[in-house]
Amino acid sequence: MAKHVVAAVADIPPGTRRLTQVNGRAIVVFNLGGEFFALNNRCPHRGGSLFHGKQTGLVESDGPGNYRYSRPGEIEYTKLGEIIRCPWHGWEFDIRTGQSWCDPKRVRVRQYAVSIEPGEALVQGPYVAESFPVSVENDYVVVEA
Ligand code: FES
Repeated sequence: MAKHVVAAVADIPPGTRRLTQVNGRAIVVFNLGGEFFALNNRCPHRGGSLFHGKQTGLVESDGPGNYRYSRPGEIEYTKLGEIIRCPWHGWEFDIRTGQSWCDPKRVRVRQYAVSIEPGEALVQGPYVAESFPVSVENDYVVVEA
């Protein structure tokens, strides 16, 4: 696994996501209130693009008419939660772990390690900046894939 610089931190503000290509793989990087997570863009059901999915909180129920809404995300006004719903058939995945909610023991989206690195460190490697200039004064999102 190599480390790839995919964006400046400022390019993925809290509550947003970015689709990036790493070694031929489409990877979505999410910013959940300042924490970064990277998932494969391909839904394990039939290949829908998770980048185009709806971000929501978690709805759980233990019976008819009784439900709980949790994990709404850090940015209340955007109503963006920590769950990504595939746009094709609605399967939902935990952005923090890639775990599915329809079959949590068997189905998950591949997750990649993400770190934030100062531009100063990037000149030392072993990073690969693929499509944009890196400057020492900025921080960058680095995906291991
Ligand atoms: S392709 Fe994602 S739910 Fe069917």
